[in-house]
Amino acid sequence: MSEGSARVVVITGASSGIGAELARQLGRRGDALVLAARGEDALRAVAAAAGTQTHVVRTDVTRRADVERLRDEALEAFGRVDVWINNAGRGIDRPVLELTEHDFDEMMAVNVKSALYGMQAIVPHFQERGAGHLVNVSSFLGRVPLATLRSAYTAAKAALNALTANLRVDLAARWPGVHVSLVMPGVVDTDFARNAVGAAAGVPLRSPPGMPPQTAEEVTAAIVDLLDHPRAELYTHRASHPIVRRYYEDVQAFEEAARRAFSAAAQTPAP
Ligand SMILES: NC(=O)c1ccc[n+]([C@@H]2O[C@H](COP(=O)([O-])OP(=O)(O)OC[C@H]3O[C@@H](n4cnc5c(N)ncnc54)[C@H](OP(=O)(O)O)[C@@H]3O)[C@@H](O)[C@H]2O)c1
Repeated sequence: MSEGSARVVVITGASSGIGAELARQLGRRGDALVLAARGEDALRAVAAAAGTQTHVVRTDVTRRADVERLRDEALEAFGRVDVWINNAGRGIDRPVLELTEHDFDEMMAVNVKSALYGMQAIVPHFQERGAGHLVNVSSFLGRVPLATLRSAYTAAKAALNALTANLRVDLAARWPGVHVSLVMPGVVDTDFARNAVGAAAGVPLRSPPGMPPQTAEEVTAAIVDLLDHPRAELYTHRASHPIVRRYYEDVQAFEEAARRAFSAAAQTPAP
C-alpha cells in the first residue's frame, strides 16, 4: 500500500512497548487500528492516545480461538485488514540446562504458535483480496544466539524466522501482492526484560558490544517504513547485518570473539 493512504492494521502485543508505540505512530498517520493483548485497561489507554479509529480486542495470542476472534472482530469493525503485525512476545532468563518443560512450551506458545495462529487466521483473507502485509516481529537473537540466558526464547524466534521464510516463499509466485516480512530488533528499551520469565532473579542483559539499545520509537519508525516499502527482512539496528555476516562466516571464531568482548565489557561498569 502506498505511503500516506490509510490502512487497517491489526497489532498484537499493543498494550505496551513496541506494539503501543506502533499504535501511536500509525494512529498519527490516520490508519485504523485493531489492538490486541491481554491487558484490556492498558489497551484502552493506548487506543485513546492513538487519535484514530480503533477497536480493542482482549486477546491471549496463545489461544487459537482468541486469535481467530481477533480476525473476525477486525473484519466486522473495518470490513478488511491490510496489515497484520504479530508482535506479542515474551522473553526468558534461564540457561538451556535449567529449562523446564513448561518454560520451553511457554516460549514456543507465546513467540511461535501465536504467530502461526495469526498467519493461518489472516493470510486466507489476504489471498482472497490478492493484497495484504503480514509482519512477524522476531529478534536479532533468532538469527545470532548471542544471549545464552534467553535460550528457549532465542530458539522460539529462530523457529519463527523459519516459518516466516517458508510462508513468504509459498505465497510469492501466486500472490505477489501479499507481502510477508520478518523484523529482527536488537535490544530495545521497553518492559520486555522486566516481563521475561525468571526476570526477578535475572541478571540484567547487556547489548552486544557495538550494538547499543534502541528506543521503541526508533524501532517502530523502522517498522512503519517497512509497511510503506515491504521487503523480506528488517534488522532495525544498523549494526546487525555485519554481525550476522561474521557469525555465518565462522561460528566458532565468532563465539570466541564474542566471549572476549563480553568479558571485557563486564570489566567496565554498565552505562
Ligand atoms: N525489547 C526488546 O529488547 C526486544 C528485542 C527483540 C525483539 N523484541 C520483540 O518485540 C516484541 C514486542 O516486545 P516489547 O519489547 O514491546 O515487550 P513488552 O513491552 O513486554 O510487550 C510485550 C507485549 O506482548 C503482549 N503479550 C505477551 N504475552 C501475550 C499473550 N499471551 N497474549 C497476548 N499478548 C501478549 C503484552 O501484553 P499483555 O501482557 O497485556 O498481554 C505486551 O503488549 C516481542 O515479540 C519481542 O520478542 C523485543
